[in-house]
Amino acid sequence: MLVHWELLAGLLVLTLEGRAHAAGIVNGREAAPHSRPYMVLLNRHLAKGRIEYCGGFLLNADFVMTAAHCQARFFTVFLGLHNIKDSGATKRTVTQAFPHKDYNATDFRNDIMLLKLSSKVHFTTNVSPVALGDQSDVSLPKSCLVSGWGAGTEQNQYLSEVLMDVDVTLVDLEQCAKRNLYCSHGDAGQSKGDSGGPLVCDGKAYGVVSTTFIPKSGAPKIHCFAKIPDVRRWIRSTMTSALKRPDKRD
Ligand SMILES: *[C@@H]1O[C@H](CO)[C@@H](O)[C@H](O)[C@H]1NC(C)=O
Repeated sequence: MLVHWELLAGLLVLTLEGRAHAAGIVNGREAAPHSRPYMVLLNRHLAKGRIEYCGGFLLNADFVMTAAHCQARFFTVFLGLHNIKDSGATKRTVTQAFPHKDYNATDFRNDIMLLKLSSKVHFTTNVSPVALGDQSDVSLPKSCLVSGWGAGTEQNQYLSEVLMDVDVTLVDLEQCAKRNLYCSHGDAGQSKGDSGGPLVCDGKAYGVVSTTFIPKSGAPKIHCFAKIPDVRRWIRSTMTSALKRPDKRD
């Protein structure tokens, strides 16, 4: 099993370079407008004026959670969005980014990041936080859903005009459990541009959209989510200390 995983891990790199991805949230449907008021769209400003996209989700008035591999030079955060052409979205920038201290950019362990917003957001019916899942339950979370605007193709990253949803069923795989991941099997799930969005089960965020392994053998894809219940303490302490410190100015 380990050998098999290493093979997948090798392919992961290809996937992230965008050579093996299908387009869009796969087998999904348009979300009912504003039914996911925690969803945020992140514009990631990269070198040379390039912009790419990630999803994220609101935890409270000051913080958004996303994936550590969504790091950027700076961000624009859109809240309360459904159709990306809407001009009514709430906008923020990010004053500090906190990738998980044990994030590993090779095997994507702990692919989680907190972003502190430039000013507090005011909650409305279209903008409100999601609660985080906890570890009280030993079995895998049930009734899970992934949302995102991703519509990546093999070469490029595009956006879907509207927020999409897809139902996913978590599977118990040894190689996922060992890496603090939740995983789902098959075509349905995230694609390029959906990274950083939440895995929501029974109304709580249990995971962060991280990566998809595409086995060369033609075996089903494995969609991976960084596990939130395992890092609740890091989340709490990072937010507490960030709120005590004045924002860096640079
Ligand atoms: C990151 O992951 C790779 C692949 O599993 C491993 O070889 C490496 O030691 C890890 N790095 C750290 C700092 O743990």
